[in-house]
Amino acid sequence: MRRIAVLTSGGDAPGMNAAIRAVVRQVCARGWEAVGVQYGFRGLLDDQLRPLGPRDVGGIMQLGGTVLGSARCEDFRTLEGRSQALRVLAARGVDGLVVIGGNGSQAGAHTLSAEGFPVVGVASTIDNDLLGSDITIGVDTALNVGLEALDRLRVTASSHNRAALVEVMGRHCGYLALMLGITGGAEAIVIPEAELEPDEVAAVMQRAFDRGKAHAIVVVAEGARNNATRLVPFFRLNRQRFGFELRATILGHVQRGGTPTHFDRLLATRLGTAAVERLAVGEHGVVVGLSGRDLDATPLGDLVGRTKAPDLTLLEMARTLAQ
Ligand code: F6P
Repeated sequence: MRRIAVLTSGGDAPGMNAAIRAVVRQVCARGWEAVGVQYGFRGLLDDQLRPLGPRDVGGIMQLGGTVLGSARCEDFRTLEGRSQALRVLAARGVDGLVVIGGNGSQAGAHTLSAEGFPVVGVASTIDNDLLGSDITIGVDTALNVGLEALDRLRVTASSHNRAALVEVMGRHCGYLALMLGITGGAEAIVIPEAELEPDEVAAVMQRAFDRGKAHAIVVVAEGARNNATRLVPFFRLNRQRFGFELRATILGHVQRGGTPTHFDRLLATRLGTAAVERLAVGEHGVVVGLSGRDLDATPLGDLVGRTKAPDLTLLEMARTLAQ
């Protein structure tokens, strides 16, 4: 018999629950035991583990967030922290671990794996900056939440002939902002991978009004140098220079708390299943992710310390289409 533990770590992402459900039920279907670790690596160090059966994960697939709780754990970065984690896993008779999370979490998974413990990662972060998966769990929901907000802001901006600035999450990655700028029909997109200076943003907005648009929308990534923190005071200070008013909205955590979409539930279910399948055949030290239409596994060592960048040719397309 085998005992497999599962944890969610880092920023929560809609769809994590579907992944937990898939892991637990796949483990139990093999006649093994599933154990849930609460609050990520923090809970692992604190021995917060509990057995999970198929009924314990009923009715969770449609919930955002993670029923296991999540945390960011500095102690786990230390040798002593990792030794403590290994002691807990041994004491609990756990012989395999599934880590559902993004870059920081998979870096943690890598350190455990390097100590010889069987770990499989499941690619999950709204930022979509993790190598090893074309798209990660939570991205689709975060995009749909952001899109609904953008559509609404466009309505009121048009009614008042105003400009709207919308800042979206993504940490250091501009993927969410780029995608939302395209599908939300923004006039300007500011991302860390392709910064626009405040004067350039203002000029793009001004030209949109000059062409007869009733609104001008700029989507900015939180990780951009010229994010809302810099652009909002700039527009306020230079209000007299511009012929338009600007209102700013920072979506922040609103984007992370959505009800998981069909896409995220399916992706998470497939990846949770794949993680258990890999452990079952003795394969570990990898992250399971989506590659095209298929699932793939990438060695943890290949993605730690690196990030995935968005496709900048799409930015060019967005600029052309914003006429
Ligand atoms: O990594 C996911 C993410 O939501 C980022 O987009 C954001 O920068 C960060 O987490 C926020 O972290 P916290 O929830 O700890 O404030």
